[in-house]
Amino acid sequence: MLSTYLDVALLCHPILAFISIQHPKMQHKKPSLNLFAISFLSFLVLRYAYSSQLGAPYDVPIAECATEDQPNPIASLYPNNATGTLNGTIAVIPISLKLARQLIPPQYGILEHAYRSLLPSFPKGMYPAIVQALHDHEVQAFGYKIPDFTRTGIEFPFVDMLNDNHTSFKWAPSLLMTAGHDIALKGARDYGTNAFAATFDPACDAYRAVTNAKRPGTTFFSAKSQEAGVASLSTLFSTTEEELFPIEFFKNFTNQPTFADGKTCDNLIRLFNTSVTTSHGIERVKGTVRARIPPFDQGWEWQDVYGLRLDTSFIENNYLNCDSFRGYSWTE
Ligand SMILES: *[C@@H]1O[C@H](CO)[C@@H](O)[C@H](O)[C@H]1NC(C)=O
Ligand SMILES: *[C@@H]1O[C@H](CO)[C@@H](O)[C@H](O)[C@H]1NC(C)=O
Ligand SMILES: *[C@@H]1O[C@H](CO)[C@@H](O)[C@H](O)[C@H]1NC(C)=O
Ligand SMILES: *[C@@H]1O[C@H](CO)[C@@H](O)[C@H](O)[C@H]1NC(C)=O
Ligand SMILES: *[C@@H]1O[C@H](CO)[C@@H](O)[C@H](O)[C@H]1NC(C)=O
Repeated sequence: MLSTYLDVALLCHPILAFISIQHPKMQHKKPSLNLFAISFLSFLVLRYAYSSQLGAPYDVPIAECATEDQPNPIASLYPNNATGTLNGTIAVIPISLKLARQLIPPQYGILEHAYRSLLPSFPKGMYPAIVQALHDHEVQAFGYKIPDFTRTGIEFPFVDMLNDNHTSFKWAPSLLMTAGHDIALKGARDYGTNAFAATFDPACDAYRAVTNAKRPGTTFFSAKSQEAGVASLSTLFSTTEEELFPIEFFKNFTNQPTFADGKTCDNLIRLFNTSVTTSHGIERVKGTVRARIPPFDQGWEWQDVYGLRLDTSFIENNYLNCDSFRGYSWTE
């Protein structure tokens, strides 16, 4: 699997350079940009030497099917950053604060005042967990693209991981991810994420239309861990006119720095203003989510879950020092 490690090295390369430039403790090293470019190129040469020797760019069996996703519109805008598109559904799963407190590691507070300031009428004693079911498309950096993959999981926003009673982080302990996609699986596991290799329906898209459904605009999505019965998540959403949560709320939690074991943080900036979002618009959806995934210790079904179905572009800055986000507030 040398090619996989070279891929990871390529993908992390700009990130590592960024960390070493930004990290105060490493500043004495002052890597020059030339050195950085040369080492990136040598990874690239190695990568291609290795794949041409094999005769195929990838030796992992990733589902080979066409996606309906539109191309990544920002790759040329940010050629030296990891960019891509995320098509799919994000929705709010209200759970009791008591359950949230049991699930979120005890050393981290929950910033109830932060989500209440965005959602003043959110039911008392409740906490907004979130579900994301997303297809990652045309993820690339330096013109180097990785195959598409799908991921889903339940995440916990508004977590006070720095104990400053102010900065909101999103805790994402577990994900179901496309089996065979070693780059994505390893990338998630390096955060300490419990990443389950999984099969998806549909295999290469964010969701599929359900024909003859009772409600309009009904779509289905399902994920199952390769190891039978270990983890699964499925959704059935229909379009709705109801606006239970403002779009600003979704923007806020999707752009919180994300962590799993707390050693490093992921800064995934989702842009809601690029052509993949504006051409199709943002649909409001309501539906049912079924999940068996840690940290929940049993299977759950939630009904009347409200969310959004949309495509967004993103820029991702990986493996950053979580402390560097103190006071962080992203703005589009
Ligand atoms: C792109 O990457 C550079 C270096 O890794 C980083 O400094 C910059 O903030 C990233 N750009 C965006 C828009 O995140
Ligand atoms: C998002 O995915 C759905 C389902 O595959 C597709 O119909 C839609 O066109 C995609 N949206 C964009 C903007 O690519
Ligand atoms: C955290 O901040 C909120 C809002 O400023 C305040 O109401 C609350 O008392 C603070 N909590 C602690 C433990 O300081
Ligand atoms: C998210 O909401 C919190 C609480 O109102 C606020 O402090 C923070 O600035 C918001 N973040 C963004 C990116 O809008
Ligand atoms: C979207 O918003 C970002 C941040 O304000 C801005 O840099 C970018 O140019 C905008 N993109 C488009 C396509 O409008």
